[in-house]
Amino acid sequence: MEIQIDVILLAIMRTIDILKNNVFLEHVAILQYLIHMFLIKDEKLRGEIEEIAKEEMKHMHMFASRAVYLGSQVDIKSVEDEVKDCDDIVKLIKEDIKAEEEAVEIYSAQIDATDDDITKKMLELIIEDEKKHKRIFEYISEELEKNRQEDVIDGAVNETVAFLNYLLKERYIKIVEIVKDFINEKDTSRKDFNLYKAIENMKLMGKIGEAMVEKGIPVCFKYIKENLGTTNIRNMDDIMSVLNKFASKERFMEAYEKDIKKERGFTIGDLTSQE
Ligand SMILES: [Fe+2]
Ligand SMILES: [Fe+2]
Repeated sequence: MEIQIDVILLAIMRTIDILKNNVFLEHVAILQYLIHMFLIKDEKLRGEIEEIAKEEMKHMHMFASRAVYLGSQVDIKSVEDEVKDCDDIVKLIKEDIKAEEEAVEIYSAQIDATDDDITKKMLELIIEDEKKHKRIFEYISEELEKNRQEDVIDGAVNETVAFLNYLLKERYIKIVEIVKDFINEKDTSRKDFNLYKAIENMKLMGKIGEAMVEKGIPVCFKYIKENLGTTNIRNMDDIMSVLNKFASKERFMEAYEKDIKKERGFTIGDLTSQE
């Protein structure tokens, strides 16, 4: 009898390992695709990537929920060092095609490695999504090759670039924190609240990304300088003009001004109001 329980526990642990590994893989895919999305000027192509990123969020949530159900905590940390970024967008989309191929390969092998029926079914469903994603990325790659000049953003690295990347990364880090709480929370009302906060922050991240792509400012976290976020940015006219464009009167900003101020000591409102 004892041996049987050990066998069952080992099997559950193996499934939990698989699920946690996949949460990580999906998380990397989400961030990588969001970054790539904001490097593409063509709105339609950008929308295609956004849809894929949303499906990866669903995958991540499914894997994480199953791991929590099986009794595990799921740790989620920022993965910006894991993503393929700061390169020519055509090359980056090729990396996305590769990532989808790898996901299909890994998930297919996992179907036989777990004896949890729900996990098996999830994997089967998700593999079909990943195959579809691969085809969409192939289409995007062809379109970008055709219009190489128009769609590839090439911006100079300056303080505006660094600051907007800083804002974008800051929102991402915040979202990671909230999603971690959301996934591990068992109280459904708190869970709903975390989901609400995550979505609001995602919208804000989206606004920052849209402003960047519109202005042709490259998304690349490596451009962030250490000292950004201090008062000297008040004097940068070019940052003001970019921020004024998207941040001053939006309702979501009003709701989150306080939170943002708590995090870094000033709000975007402080920056955009003229002295
Ligand atoms: Fe996925
Ligand atoms: Fe995918």
